[in-house]
Amino acid sequence: MPTKLIAKLSQETKHVVVFTGAGVSAESGIPTFRDALTGLWERFEPAQLATAEAFREDPNLCWGWYEWRRRKVLQTQPNEAHLAIAELAKHAPKLTVVTQNVDDLHERAGSKGVIHLHGSLHSPRCIDCGNAHEAPLPSVELSEDGGRLEPPRCNAFNGYIRPGVVWFGEVLPEAPWSAGIAAAESCDLLFSIGTSGLVYPAAEIPLRALGAGATVVHVNPVRFEISSQEYFIHGPATALQMLIKVAFG
Ligand code: OAD
Repeated sequence: MPTKLIAKLSQETKHVVVFTGAGVSAESGIPTFRDALTGLWERFEPAQLATAEAFREDPNLCWGWYEWRRRKVLQTQPNEAHLAIAELAKHAPKLTVVTQNVDDLHERAGSKGVIHLHGSLHSPRCIDCGNAHEAPLPSVELSEDGGRLEPPRCNAFNGYIRPGVVWFGEVLPEAPWSAGIAAAESCDLLFSIGTSGLVYPAAEIPLRALGAGATVVHVNPVRFEISSQEYFIHGPATALQMLIKVAFG
């Protein structure tokens, strides 16, 4: 672990941002999107499942797939990386978690005020009127990769209920996006953990932090190019646990 980084984390930092992607939940058993062989987008066509057009075209296929993912998340537990991030909040003067993930594992690990840029699997709403669907979702049996399932209907206008996630081609919800950018531009240290950094505008978060003069630290088992102002911790998301231990004892 770079000693300069440990000193910065333990002595100088006032506001830490932790920006996370699918890699943080990988060790809980939730597949990432773009990892070779295991990534969701290796097995499924995003255009068929993760757009509003796809949902309107074949709501049962789309809803069945998201229900399969939501239930998979419910069966998993936060891993050491989620717990380490929640633990970091006890040491840093201020900590903001900004995630692209649509699971609730940061919250279940104890992180507060998590900013979800891409929405949540756990907040379905009507595709027509946008009303939140509060009723429990029916627990119909699903095959291993999902299968077709008709979405519930909205009580107000009878429209189909859609997953509460951001799809390709959709604008990110304004409030989390503004809060994420504000945190990135006001922090002095940002950890970018378990993300390929390929999906914009979310991928702008570390760049905004860097542009505003923060130290940016990437944690990833797959190495990629970084600038001379950034750090790279080559390893799984759980490597953060070691860094916290060294910095805070
Ligand atoms: P990706 O699947 O694009 O990237 C996952 C990243 O996690 C890769 O860089 C992996 O190397 C890394 N990784 C894998 N295992 C890891 C581990 N154990 N610890 C740490 N890192 C690990 O996922 P995201 O970057 O999150 O958007 O994808 C961004 C967005 O693309 C998602 O939010 C989703 C997707 O399409 C929407 O659904 C709108």
